[in-house]
Amino acid sequence: MMEKNPNEWEQHYLDQNIPWDKGRPAPALVAFLKDHPAPTGRILVPGCGMGHDVRALSAAGGEASEVIGFDLSPTAMKLADDFPKVGREHFLAGDYFKLPEELHHSFDWIWEHTCFCAIDQDQRASYVQASAKALKPGGKLLGVFYLNPYDDEHAPGEGPPHGCSLDELEKLFGDLFEITEHWQPSDAYPGREGKELMVILQKR
Ligand SMILES: C[S@@+](CC[C@H](N)C(=O)[O-])C[C@H]1O[C@@H](n2cnc3c(N)ncnc32)[C@H](O)[C@@H]1O
Repeated sequence: MMEKNPNEWEQHYLDQNIPWDKGRPAPALVAFLKDHPAPTGRILVPGCGMGHDVRALSAAGGEASEVIGFDLSPTAMKLADDFPKVGREHFLAGDYFKLPEELHHSFDWIWEHTCFCAIDQDQRASYVQASAKALKPGGKLLGVFYLNPYDDEHAPGEGPPHGCSLDELEKLFGDLFEITEHWQPSDAYPGREGKELMVILQKR
């Protein structure tokens, strides 16, 4: 698969051709919410697609959280908004690399799941900059990163999803974030077991 331009993401949702959407929140997030206090305050979910993770975070945080799902695809945001509300979640269409100024330095948490692996590898530095711009000082990015998305049908360099290692994350994020924790998630979608890493990055 080649790298995608912005319109291609939108077309996927228009065609309902969204193989990455499993119809439920990321198992790693569900496991985290079971074992830890829910993140609260303002939470941003870039590349949130249909918003399953947004609703999981919103339900877990209750009144103490406001969760904003943000995605390039206006159709995804419309479809996500059509789900019954579970808390104070809402959805905005936009490009993470051009985060609206009113969202700058306004989030306590970012939840990352399959946005970082979907963007071009040469956009990763911009992802780090956008995340630093979104968070308040000391804010945290909690993410499940796809270490190894490769199989018989999909090799490195062939387009998304792109893998990354902890070492690469340290190099990429290190100037602006400190990795405070990382661990293998206790649950994953079938086929992703052992291929993901949960990481907490705190903005310096
Ligand atoms: C592989 S999908 C994952 C969606 C969702 N996280 C899920 O697991 O179902 C990647 C998502 O990132 C979005 N995306 C890609 N580039 C983006 C950007 N620059 N800003 C915001 N969203 C982006 C796409 O529209 C798509 O919904």
